[in-house]
Amino acid sequence: MSGGIVPGAPLPERGAPVPFTPEQLLFGGDWSPEQWDRATWREDVELMRRARVNTVTLGVFSWACLEPREGEYDLAWLDEVIDLLEEAGIGYFLATPTASPPPWFTRAHPEAMPVRPDGVRLTHGSRDTYAISAPAYREASRRIAAVLGEHFGGRAGLRGWHLHNEYGTLDHGPHAARAFRTWLQARYGDLETLNAQWSTAFWSQRYGDWEEITPPQDTQYLHNPAQLIDFRRFSSDEMLAAMVEQREAIRATGSRAPITTNFMLPTWNHLEQWSWAQQQDVVSIDHYLDTTAPDAETHVAYGADLTRSWAGGSWVLMEQNARGISLGDRTVVKSAQRMLRNSIGYIARGSQSSLFFQWRASLGGSEQWHSGLVPHAGDDTEHFRAVCALGETLERLAPVTALPADGPLVAAEVAIAWHADGWWALETPHLPHDGIRYAEEVRAIHRSFWRAGIPTDFARPGSDVSGYRLLVVPCLYPLSEEEVSWLEEYVAGGGELVVTFLSGLSDPSLRIVPGGYPGALRELLGVRVEEMRPLPAGVQEGLDDGSVIEEWAELLEAPGAEVLAAYTHGDLRGRPAITRSARGAGHAVYLSARLRQDSRDRFLADLCTRLGIAATVAGAAERGLEAVRRRGAGADHLFLLHHGDKEVTVRAEGTDLLTGVSAAEGLVIAAGGVAVLALAPDAEASLATGPAAMPAGG
Ligand code: GAL
Repeated sequence: MSGGIVPGAPLPERGAPVPFTPEQLLFGGDWSPEQWDRATWREDVELMRRARVNTVTLGVFSWACLEPREGEYDLAWLDEVIDLLEEAGIGYFLATPTASPPPWFTRAHPEAMPVRPDGVRLTHGSRDTYAISAPAYREASRRIAAVLGEHFGGRAGLRGWHLHNEYGTLDHGPHAARAFRTWLQARYGDLETLNAQWSTAFWSQRYGDWEEITPPQDTQYLHNPAQLIDFRRFSSDEMLAAMVEQREAIRATGSRAPITTNFMLPTWNHLEQWSWAQQQDVVSIDHYLDTTAPDAETHVAYGADLTRSWAGGSWVLMEQNARGISLGDRTVVKSAQRMLRNSIGYIARGSQSSLFFQWRASLGGSEQWHSGLVPHAGDDTEHFRAVCALGETLERLAPVTALPADGPLVAAEVAIAWHADGWWALETPHLPHDGIRYAEEVRAIHRSFWRAGIPTDFARPGSDVSGYRLLVVPCLYPLSEEEVSWLEEYVAGGGELVVTFLSGLSDPSLRIVPGGYPGALRELLGVRVEEMRPLPAGVQEGLDDGSVIEEWAELLEAPGAEVLAAYTHGDLRGRPAITRSARGAGHAVYLSARLRQDSRDRFLADLCTRLGIAATVAGAAERGLEAVRRRGAGADHLFLLHHGDKEVTVRAEGTDLLTGVSAAEGLVIAAGGVAVLALAPDAEASLATGPAAMPAGG
């Protein structure tokens, strides 16, 4: 058995995730037979067949049932479950259950429980309670992974390994302290360098011995931001090392089934997804809507575009909510129409599945009120009938799973830079404005392109972006020298770069680059920011191009750039707000102000028009029709998701996979409806003119 990975040591190099091409779209969800008796197992499998479920996820929280006492295994019940599934022709992901160690584990290894920043050591009783760096936890995780790999790794219905569940428990205890120091030694080499990078001259924090360094536990006042961001990076790397150990333990048993771990679409974020994606065969996410408003649709697109980009192609939607949308203090019903439209929305943007949490709603336990595909009321319900209809619809969409021989799955001319460093930097306290959130800023930019119907990818800083005509960098506060050169080369090569406020202010250790903001990007942008001027909450000001701004403004000069818009308020009146420099064959735009969403939409749509970047179907977005062209083998598929409230008519040389109706003479799509046209690779689609309609809510 593998002995584990030394903290701070490089992980094995791997290529990109492998293309994932199931013969049909995966449909189903997490199934927890350990919560039910055998009669219900049989009923469940029967209902799954009725609903055309072809995939379930097993074992996510089954550790206590699989290993009831340390080193004693009970796998017979899972064999029985798997036999039932295989007889019914239903595939499954098998999870390693390490997100939830059983009570015996705590009792035997109390020191392997996580410690909060305030020093409180947690105990079992919920889930996700483990200290990721504790040797006993890592050993127990490798062991159960190997046992499952050995026993189930060759089973015919195994679609893949689902390692752990939503990695994300941070530990601030002694095991983490030791591993953090090793990680820091690998990063900085010696203490002098660490002291310099962490600016420890400030507040007498200078370290004279590695042993003095701890995770950022609660302290009297503000933490050192460099320590905070390095701890986030370390925690991501440490969890990744734990995942890779499990992967290797399973591989050592000879099982070749693809390996994934389910990311949480970040509303909180403890992972640096680009490096995680490279260590998996298939990238998967869990995505839960956080609003019922029309913006829910943009959230689907945002999550799907991010995941397709991390994966570099097809991916798996591992969980979504069947019937509920959690609004924090209450869960409201997600309509059947939205369940179907959103499922197809993820698929349009590269998902090979529509999987849910969970198959059958639990009767007890902490999530007894979480919806399922089978509700508490059973199968004689509107909801279960909608689930069956979804299963039927997804079967008709099977041809879309075939991947194009080359090129992207969804062709985009726009990329948005994404990196967890931006997120973590803006979570350090005592910034000029503590209310600006990285994810919200990135999502706001993505929303503008979505509203214009323009496809977007996300880009890893440093990756090849030469194929994009427009690259937007929102609020990426730290930038390394390599990342600055990456942006310079992009512009020199003819790209159009848009950089927003709060980008490029510091080096990776969050040390400000002096001489005027934004540090190392001044030359490229042709600007020099003297001062940040956050606006008071609720205050809106204007720019002289008619834009409305909120939250953020800056005092800057633009010696090397053309001024596209100027401020109109206070002593900033007449000063540059939006600038554009010409560098090499390209341009670099600087947005020093935070535009209100409608102004941001207009600004980016105008820029796309000037650059000749077109919507997938001209005029569709304005009518509430989301159009996404997913490339395939032989045929492309034009997904048309109608979020608006008035029917629209689309013309194209293609046939709707859902109804078999040709769109050559015009296909009418009802409000809330969906069509998926199989097109010849070079066929275009157009919209018959009709009245514009606003996106519908609900
Ligand atoms: C997910 C998690 C599931 C379940 C679900 C609903 O994030 O992976 O196990 O808890 O949320 O809350």
